[in-house]
Amino acid sequence: MTNFDSAWSDFWSEGNLSSLNTTFDDGYDGSIKQMWNDSFVKLDDNARLLDLCSGNGSILKLAIEFCQTNEKSLELNGIEAAKVSESTIQELKESHQGIFNFYSETKVEKFVSEKQYSLVTSQYGIEYTDWSETLPLVANLLKQDGEAAFFIHTDSSIVYNIAQDELVQFEKIMSLKFFVALKKLVREMGDLTRPEDVEKLKQSKKADKYRNDVNEILAQLQELAGAYQNANIIYNCFELVNAIMKDKKQESAKDKEVFIKKTQQQLEHNAQRLQNMVDSTLTRMQREEFINMAKSAGLELTFSQDVLEKGFVVGHQLKFNKS
Ligand SMILES: C[S@@+](CC[C@H](N)C(=O)[O-])C[C@H]1O[C@@H](n2cnc3c(N)ncnc32)[C@H](O)[C@@H]1O
Repeated sequence: MTNFDSAWSDFWSEGNLSSLNTTFDDGYDGSIKQMWNDSFVKLDDNARLLDLCSGNGSILKLAIEFCQTNEKSLELNGIEAAKVSESTIQELKESHQGIFNFYSETKVEKFVSEKQYSLVTSQYGIEYTDWSETLPLVANLLKQDGEAAFFIHTDSSIVYNIAQDELVQFEKIMSLKFFVALKKLVREMGDLTRPEDVEKLKQSKKADKYRNDVNEILAQLQELAGAYQNANIIYNCFELVNAIMKDKKQESAKDKEVFIKKTQQQLEHNAQRLQNMVDSTLTRMQREEFINMAKSAGLELTFSQDVLEKGFVVGHQLKFNKS
């Protein structure tokens, strides 16, 4: 498993429904939902849908809702490289009336199927894969009159801009050695269960120094936070210090350290996912390359448009027919 796979596995196992969990915490909505419904509505009853890079099945969830609202039956299939939340996928399966297959820990490049599909979808997904393998595979898996509909990351989107800002914040936190400084302070503070522990701490010059180090780092982070509309990554650090000094004050130094390490790991995984996304985001020229490669694989472009949510570009939609 690569770092990226395990970062995604951790994220999906937490039960997140979408990769943009701060914007769409209960699954996708608005123009994204509408865009997918426009694809589902063209499908005949019992048509087969294959969703690539499914995460916790957010597109399949939309398809299930669509089937329920429109009394339609579709065969739903999803593929995802990472480990996903079994309970989330099980819930989806149980809520669907028709056939439902989910292939987790399966790379699209390795997917083998005898079946052909009327609709192949991918949301913020296919751009992460090896196009030289996945585009010919999509062309092979599509029925002659089928459609491939991809919603991909574009460098003009707000999602991309926020990810870049968050990565700068993350780099700053790491370069200032925030976690190292906080761990040193917690170790020096020791357990604070008895009144004499607190007295001892008051006399400790080392603790004073480490406290100053942490405060200086927080001051620098506070200054940086002012430059961003979304400074969530930095605010994680403030929340962590707050938790250690207040809510968890009575806990042992060891437990506090475990908590710091866990928070650090979550932040590192978050940064790995953001980096993975930034690296996979397509510029206009890369999109042209993708379209040309699809053409060589036997897919003809029928639609290409930015998708907006509340006035902001959130991605680019591409649709292909089999040529
Ligand atoms: C940004 S998430 C999108 C997930 C989902 N489509 C959604 O919109 O919520 C990208 C997903 O692609 C998966 N992925 C990346 N490369 C893949 C590959 N080669 N085969 C299958 N899944 C892959 C990642 O593990 C990650 O879960």
